Amino acid sequence: MSIVRNENLADAGRLKIDWARSYMPVLKEIEKDFKKEKSFQGMSIAMSIHLEAKTANLALTLREGGADVRVTGCNVLSTQDDVCAGLASHGIEVFAWRGATQEEYESHLIETLKGHPHLILDDGGDLMSLIHGDYAGLGDRLIGGTEETTTGVHRLRLREKSGQLRFPMIAVNDANCKHLFDNRYGTGQSTWSAILHTTNLLIAGKHVVVAGFGWCGRGIAMRAKSLGARVIVTEVDPVKALEAYMEGYDVMSMDEAAAIGDIFITVSGVTDIITGRHMKKMKDGAVLCNAGHFDKEISKPDLEALSDEVCVRRPEIAGYRMRGDGRWLNLIAEGRLVNIAADNGHPIEIMDLSFGVQAQALKYMAQHGKELKPQVYPAPAEIDEAVASFKLKSLGISISKLTDEQKLYIETF
Ligand code: NAI
Repeated sequence: MSIVRNENLADAGRLKIDWARSYMPVLKEIEKDFKKEKSFQGMSIAMSIHLEAKTANLALTLREGGADVRVTGCNVLSTQDDVCAGLASHGIEVFAWRGATQEEYESHLIETLKGHPHLILDDGGDLMSLIHGDYAGLGDRLIGGTEETTTGVHRLRLREKSGQLRFPMIAVNDANCKHLFDNRYGTGQSTWSAILHTTNLLIAGKHVVVAGFGWCGRGIAMRAKSLGARVIVTEVDPVKALEAYMEGYDVMSMDEAAAIGDIFITVSGVTDIITGRHMKKMKDGAVLCNAGHFDKEISKPDLEALSDEVCVRRPEIAGYRMRGDGRWLNLIAEGRLVNIAADNGHPIEIMDLSFGVQAQALKYMAQHGKELKPQVYPAPAEIDEAVASFKLKSLGISISKLTDEQKLYIETF
């Protein structure tokens, strides 16, 4: 039995799910195969991932392949209660609500694992932590799984290195059809969508500080520039820092940027990017937000320690008044993934690609997981090619093909 906030929201949730579905041609194409082949017949799949309309369509696609699917969220603020109710009304078992406490969140993860899954789909690594800890017994049928995001892949690799990984996992994040589009264009657009609608501020002319120039940071900086911002990048990797410089951005340390920035966006996947030391230098009215996986990039304990008043300044924005000088520092969505916690997450077409990779990677794991060692694997290149080809076909775009002579030229060159 599903555990959702309010079953009466099912109609609103189904509307959202249907809207998303009509812009997901890749998943629809994959669903046709799953239906025919019954790729997951007799299998149970546990999913922990941002629970909104696009994800609901992935769960439904997997179900069409014969899977028994159980779903929970991976972040308490990204779960949408109407979508949960809508998905549950489609007969999928859902365990989640927005704003769950840490305890409730964990109990939802455990409920999801109670189906004794054959496959897991994780986003950030919380399911994996339970299955490698106190709830190892619920993983007795596990063949393998997939991981959606950079931080989760990082955690997986640490587990693999320490020899603790129990079953094979595919790093979906590292597939080209995932990070090239999702991390870059998806996070780029949706982070700005969240900032624009929560703050209602003008971006043109403002100093925007992007901390981390990885795939997500590149997208966020690119879109900031197109909105007319003066973009500052902070990095620890000299190559990425140089790349940012050559893209035309100012590059400096956070210690220097702190006094200049109007809007700060952390997206490094690392903790304590903005701490009290930086907050003390920031301008009155500075806006802070995070697009990295965990809410640890901006130190909330430091914000609290430095302030004498905390209040809601707009929906989703907490104002912290700095003790002594009365400056307001404004934090969006509690420092959690801003694009998902304070907006609708990635655009639908982007998630169609990411979930196309997810669905195909799970099918691959269902077929080959038993032959694989407990390691972290890249998604096979054919998956990237298939997903990109489905998408191009849906756009009516045909591309050139290598002639036999050209193939020979490449092979013998
Ligand atoms: P990435 O590994 O490509 O980039 C991270 C960058 O941060 C690297 O260039 C690294 O050198 C830099 N960095 C590390 N420590 C730093 C520091 N102290 N100061 C400045 N820069 C620092 O990772 P990617 O794919 O860009 O992901 C970043 C985070 O965003 C991860 O936590 C990931 O899980 C998350 N993510 C969020 C999404 C969203 O929807 N908001 C979507 C996809 C990923």
